[in-house]
Amino acid sequence: MEKIEKLRERKAVARAGGGPDRIQKQHDAGKLTARERLTLLFDQDTFVELDLFVKHRCTNFGMQDIEVPGEGVVTGYGYVEGRLVYAYAQDFTVMGGSLGEMHANKIIKVLDNAMKVGAPVVGLNDSGGARIQEGVDALSGYGKIFFANTRASGVIPQITAIMGPCAGGAVYSPALTDFIFMVDNTSHMFITGPQVIEAVTGEKVDAAELGGSITHNSRSGVAHFRGQDDASVITDIRRLLGFLPSSYLDEAPIYDMGPLNDYIEELNTIIPDNPRKAYDMKEVIAAIVDRGDFMEYQQYYATNIITAFARIGGRSVGIIANQPQVLAGCLNVNASDKAARFIRTCDAFNIPLLTIADVPGFLPGTDQEYSGIIRHGAKMLYAYSEATVPMITLITRKDYGGAYLAMSSRELGSDMIFAWPSAEIAVMGSQGAANIIFARDIRAAEDPEALREEKIAEYEAEFNTPYKAAERGFVDDVIIPATTRARLMDAFKMLSGKKVERPAKKHGNIPL
Ligand code: HXC
Repeated sequence: MEKIEKLRERKAVARAGGGPDRIQKQHDAGKLTARERLTLLFDQDTFVELDLFVKHRCTNFGMQDIEVPGEGVVTGYGYVEGRLVYAYAQDFTVMGGSLGEMHANKIIKVLDNAMKVGAPVVGLNDSGGARIQEGVDALSGYGKIFFANTRASGVIPQITAIMGPCAGGAVYSPALTDFIFMVDNTSHMFITGPQVIEAVTGEKVDAAELGGSITHNSRSGVAHFRGQDDASVITDIRRLLGFLPSSYLDEAPIYDMGPLNDYIEELNTIIPDNPRKAYDMKEVIAAIVDRGDFMEYQQYYATNIITAFARIGGRSVGIIANQPQVLAGCLNVNASDKAARFIRTCDAFNIPLLTIADVPGFLPGTDQEYSGIIRHGAKMLYAYSEATVPMITLITRKDYGGAYLAMSSRELGSDMIFAWPSAEIAVMGSQGAANIIFARDIRAAEDPEALREEKIAEYEAEFNTPYKAAERGFVDDVIIPATTRARLMDAFKMLSGKKVERPAKKHGNIPL
């Protein structure tokens, strides 16, 4: 009995973390504690903690006398919507959640165990970085985590939420995972902080502007999601897990969505009569997917392309769609990176792809050329070409030139290509085309402007339709827009048994 009482006491001490004062400080800063976060993440009473008694071995700077409850990180497993998930949550109330050798070992054990059983890992980061007292042992701990993240990459989904400071080399563990969430106002990520930047370069910048949630979601593209507080980010992590399989060997869960409308009249009129007028591609997506519900990935970054998880007929799909409202939906460096990473994430985890094309081309200009649009655009071509999941393409309007190929063309492996009657599949827009191929006639004409207009109209009638492509079999069917959802549901079902062999190799060499 006495021994059991002692055990209870030891557990209570370890679970108290940094104590009431530091917990209060955490709350005052607008943050939840590690344990509160895990309680929100998992289904009620399902969290099982591991390694509560792990202790550090550091003797530098009097550390041998310092108790570090739980080593500053709470680890274990539990269930999200009844599915097994592993997690770790750094405890900022314990030595600022700083990472030493044994703290790192706890995280690595989570990653290793999750890989063995095929379950996602969620990391909730809130840490002052490498535990300064531990020196190189702490650095080694980070290095081992980077290695473990990379080993687990493509095996199990890895999700990281930044819920406090995350500075220096510590940022690279999140960066090696599949998804990064950030919390507005309370989270920061940077390699070197504001003081160091000012000392080295003289540049003045505050932490939020340098590495806050808005910066990394809209400017750098480092993060993929953001939320206003800990609770909303954790709710979104649970939602994201619902779109993902537990590992690369599984399919994402199939949901029973009940009776759903399959004939969507509004799609017949969604494309404006004026071909230069924009429309909101998100309205098309909302009309097509189950219950209009989709979760955007990198919602605030490279908004000329939309990437999102959704369900069609209860099955998870990854959607890549041009947004005609931003840069006319052109592909540029950032959009290519965003799409390529998303395609590879979906492909790694058996999530079929739906590509919706309305794209006038790659964005022209020196800025794009000097930024390496050739190298970045190639990532998209590569990502589609290597993907083996079912791929369906829907062409709603423009689909021109190299961008036609990049937006999941037949040549890169698309399994089914649907076009709306408004689709225009051509090497380039009618104006540019007519100006080039009829240049001599236009120059020689009595009324060059009239002839130019006539030739543009001629080119449009002949080529700005889906029918030339359909004649060659590049488009499988031209469909009535209102039937799109029904056709997609049917096609994804038909493709669900898709199997593709690729040539043996060590690994491909995607242009990075
Ligand atoms: C040891 C640390 C610590 C660290 C914080 N603490 N960071 N202990 N190692 N890295 C301790 C503090 O001493 C304090 O202990 C408690 O955690 C809370 O910290 P506060 O400073 O009181 O909190 P706050 O005011 O909120 O400031 C948070 C902070 C600051 C901005 C993170 O603590 C800070 O600047 N810490 C150092 C950050 C840093 O330089 N880390 C190393 C980065 S290099 P008490 O007992 O007073 O509560 C790195 C390299 C990784 O990480 C390389 C990987 C390859």
